[in-house]
Order: sequence, then structure tokens, then C-alpha cells
Amino acid sequence: MASLPRSDLREWLYTIARLGVYKGVTRGLQAFRNAAFRESWTFFDNDTVRNGESAMTQLLLRGFDIRKCYLETSAQSALVDVLRPILKSAPLFHPTTPSGKKMSVRMTSAGELGWVSDKNGYRYQGKHPKGGVWPAIPEEIMTIWRDVTGSERAPDCCLINYYGEGTRMGMHQDKDEVDFSWPVVSVSLGDDALFRIGNTTRGGKTESIWLGSGDVVIMGGPARLAYHGIDRIRFGSSRLLPKGGRINLTLRVAT
Ligand code: SIN
Ligand code: MN
Repeated sequence: MASLPRSDLREWLYTIARLGVYKGVTRGLQAFRNAAFRESWTFFDNDTVRNGESAMTQLLLRGFDIRKCYLETSAQSALVDVLRPILKSAPLFHPTTPSGKKMSVRMTSAGELGWVSDKNGYRYQGKHPKGGVWPAIPEEIMTIWRDVTGSERAPDCCLINYYGEGTRMGMHQDKDEVDFSWPVVSVSLGDDALFRIGNTTRGGKTESIWLGSGDVVIMGGPARLAYHGIDRIRFGSSRLLPKGGRINLTLRVAT
């Protein structure tokens, strides 16, 4: 076998070493960046993706596509405004688990179907527990779905969860839908919430990230059936909602 000239060999070794260092540094930066998001909200300029007028930062955590600051403040307020009449015609209610435990969050829905839970199980149904039909999903919310999913198929449910002081949501999978190839899109408004991400089976190591007002999370692909939940909220951390607390919208294709 013809041997390589010494200078070529040196060049190759140098390139391989440089790639190794580059990979190591990139990984180190990624870990540091994730930690910074969780602990101190430090953003790095070169991770910033422009989204119209606002600065949005995108982060991928275990397949969860997290768009920090997707909605600027005025868009968040506009969403709260369109939610007001919805909450009037389909008031928030306290669901219970099939075993009879009262959930700490209150919820309602917009769309053709709403998600409910009681002693008869978890399910989507065409009517509010008090009897009325669900209000339509406002165009402002549909626009977010179209933008982040690029899908022409519209969601048929927008679940609206309200987190008051001291509320949480246990680890669960979203699996009451017919077809898991559609993502679930979550929009956070109001107080910060500690979002925990697990695995596609119960248990195992988890990772957490704070979600703030205006953040959007796309749970699709490998993340679609991952366990997730809200450990706690920082009540009063945002001034978006006059009485404090957090609203989370999840857009779902249920049928
Ligand atoms: C949910 O999983 O239904 C809600 C998640 C969240 O509140 O961010
Ligand atoms: Mn969920």
C-alpha cells in the first residue's frame, strides 16, 4: 500500500482533531444553553430565529419543538381577548379523573369537540358537560396551528386549561385521539409553568423546562406519545391575566 506523504497525514489528523473539538464544543454549548433556559432565561444571540417583529428562539428537547417567545406581548393580549367570550359561553369546569379524583386545573374547549373527563373516562365529546355546544376555534388560534404545522387539516379541538395558584398536571400521554400522526400544539399564556418531559413509557429519567407566556410547543413525531406534565406554576410571574394564573391551549386533531 502506498504510504501517504507526511504533510498529508498531518493535515488529515489535524482535520479529524478539529472536527472532534468542534463537536465537543457544540455539545457543550448545547448543554449549557439548555441549562440556561431552565435556570436563568439567558438567550444566545446566534440561536435567535427571527419571527416577524419579535425574537423567537427554537429549542428541541427530546423531540419537543419548543418555540420560546413565539407570540409577542400584543399577540398574547389579543388571544386573551378572543378567549374571553369563549370562556363566557363555555365556562371552565373542574374535571374529575375516572377514579373520582378532582383535577386541580379547570378546563373547557373550543372546536367541534371538547375533551372531558369524569367517571365514564377520558374522551372527546360534542357538548360541554353543562349541555351547550363548544364555541368555534378563533381564527387567531388556527393561524398558529397552520404556521407551526404547515398542515391544511384543521384541529377539531382546542382544549383550554386554566392553572390557578397551586395547581399542577400529572404526567400523562395525550392518547385519546384517533390518529397520532397529527401533532398536538400547545400555547402558553400568563404565568410561567415548569413543564416536565418524560419518555414514551411511564417512568425513567425526565427533563424540565420553564414555559413562559407566548411560548409554543409542538408535540409531534417521536414526542407525540411522550409523557409530559406541569409540576407547578410561578403564580403571579406574569401580568397578562388580570387575576394571575396560566392558560394553556392545546390544539388537537381528535378524529
Ligand atoms: C397538557 O398536556 O394538556 C397541558 C400542557 C401544558 O399545560 O403546558
Ligand atoms: Mn397533554
